Amino acid sequence: MNADDMKKSVALKALEQVKPLLAEDVVIGIGTGSTANYFIDALGEYAMDFKGAVASSQASADRLKACGIDVFELNETGSLPVYVDGADEFDPQLNLIKGGGAALTREKIVAQACQRFICIVDASKQVDVLGAFPLPVEVIPMARSLVARAMVKLGGDPVYREGVVTDNGNQILDVHGLNIQDPKQLEQQINNIPGVVCNGIFALRPADVVLMSTPDGVDERRPL
Ligand code: 5RP
Repeated sequence: MNADDMKKSVALKALEQVKPLLAEDVVIGIGTGSTANYFIDALGEYAMDFKGAVASSQASADRLKACGIDVFELNETGSLPVYVDGADEFDPQLNLIKGGGAALTREKIVAQACQRFICIVDASKQVDVLGAFPLPVEVIPMARSLVARAMVKLGGDPVYREGVVTDNGNQILDVHGLNIQDPKQLEQQINNIPGVVCNGIFALRPADVVLMSTPDGVDERRPL
């Protein structure tokens, strides 16, 4: 099985868990990235079975619409029964690093709004301690250097993701070299730096379940 086959198989597994929740008045949350794209493509077949989706990025909103799925603003919906999204890393407590696709802020908002967060990944995303994947931090442009200096003080090595502007008009720092022993604490600490819009640690609201694709099938992980 190649990498794309693994992404597709975990997306289909997530769809099996989501299908029983679909109904004409139901709006679900949809994430961003190549694995989420496989989920969107498979979900298209069921477009007539539910009301629509809230998307965590413009790219996903465009893809959903192309699949015939109506897209809603979160402000128009209540709490979402389920949110399906990928991740860049997950640990045994199902804390995540997200934001490789620069959509972390909207992803964190949709994750917060959902009752059940199903994270879909392949086995390469599994770690004991978060931080090997450079931590994305979305910053207000005028604060980029200020935030970068603060990240150096926290032991990180921030790199400006040049040429990337988020859906919110902001910039991304990718912070290398962090060994994230206490994800909740670091998530809050980075959030408190003026100019930070959001950081890619998802520990205050982790995943409820991680579906992990392996060459032998899809494993279901719950928090240890
Ligand atoms: C986008 C994300 C993605 O979920 C993450 O980067 C994983 O993407 P992929 O499924 O392509 O590996 O956080 O901001």
